[in-house]
Amino acid sequence: MVGNQVTNLRALVTGGCGFIGSHLVKALVADSNFLTIVNVDALTYSGHPENCSDIDNVRYKFKHQSINDRPSFENTLREENISIIFHLAAESHVDRSIHSIKPFISTNVDGTRVILESILALRKEGQEISLVHVSTDEVYGSLGPNDPPFTELTPVNPLNPYAATKAASDFLVKSFVNTFNISAVITRCSNNYGPNQFPEKLVPLMILKTRLGEKLPIYGDGKNVRDWIHVTDHVGGIVSSANALVSGKLTSGEVINFGGENEKTNLEIVRNIVEKIGASDNLIEFVPDRPGHDKRYAIDISKAKKLLKWSPKMNWDNGIIETILWYKSNDKWVASITSGEYKNWIRKQYGDTK
Ligand code: NAD
Ligand code: DAU
Repeated sequence: MVGNQVTNLRALVTGGCGFIGSHLVKALVADSNFLTIVNVDALTYSGHPENCSDIDNVRYKFKHQSINDRPSFENTLREENISIIFHLAAESHVDRSIHSIKPFISTNVDGTRVILESILALRKEGQEISLVHVSTDEVYGSLGPNDPPFTELTPVNPLNPYAATKAASDFLVKSFVNTFNISAVITRCSNNYGPNQFPEKLVPLMILKTRLGEKLPIYGDGKNVRDWIHVTDHVGGIVSSANALVSGKLTSGEVINFGGENEKTNLEIVRNIVEKIGASDNLIEFVPDRPGHDKRYAIDISKAKKLLKWSPKMNWDNGIIETILWYKSNDKWVASITSGEYKNWIRKQYGDTK
């Protein structure tokens, strides 16, 4: 250990070709404390090898695998002598979970079960593995306009199917800490934005639609509130949590919240994007609300500030301009991930995906 940094970690990231996962993989590759970075991703609709195609480093390896395939997952842990797992692989979109919950239960709940059982199996072979379980503020449910923000002590009360599967995975992790004494931390973050986000989520969807001059669908009255954080700030918090867990600064089983201290209504977000692109807000269209739509998320990040000396660095104005510019200069990325060609290319490169 050097200072507060743990060295010589051999990391495995699940979901490293997704939005947050790809930013995390790049941060770990840039961090010499990590000897190995193995990215395990099933390349579902939201996972793109292009997100990591600019990584050229012998310490980095990509494995096209599903976390639901336990024998392959255990082999990777063994072969790469992994000492820490960053678990991000998930079905991550609330709207999709309302249409069909099955893949959410399979990946978010059963996939987490596979990871936990694999940690126990490798322990029997003498290999100890820590876990950073990346969860969400959605497990806390919804706030009223004057309620205090969620703290780590707020009771878990998921109100949509996606959030319920994430809460279930959090409970599985906690139960394995208590029952089998595994080493794990659970992180819960608010809404991320930034480059490489799949354009089903609010920010990239609105950027792309505004540029195309298409209608901008706002659910309900647009007064629902989210707390927005730039993806690189979230990634910084995830890496700090890992260091704190491995160095013993955090007790196994602890929860840490991350957020941007940047509450905005959806209408404010969309108006801001439209204004920064220089389009007209006549494009805004109010559409029927998302069923069970959580009214407000706000998150208290005092614990992360105090314990990890972490705080969000990117302010919204700079972050959203950077994000808009990224989408503007990456038309090819957008075209490839939204076209059938992308899936054909994946099939050719890696065989069938889920
Ligand atoms: P994403 O949908 O962009 O990426 C998910 C990744 O997981 C994809 O690369 C996908 O291919 C991969 N994946 C899915 N099923 C898999 C499986 N069975 N095996 C291996 N890989 C699989 O999601 P994201 O927005 O980057 O979110 C990452 C994590 O962070 C999720 O666990 C999510 O719950 C959590 N989170 C997200 C946010 C947010 O605002 N996006 C906020 C807080 C927490
Ligand atoms: O809070 C963290 C969560 O944030 C993560 O755990 C999830 O993985 C991530 O998807 C995100 O969930 P949300 O449901 O908050 O994100 P989404 O971008 O889908 O929606 C943000 C808000 O915008 C929400 O109130 C719904 C609204 N919305 C969304 C879309 C896609 C619209 O009004 N119109 C839309 O077209």
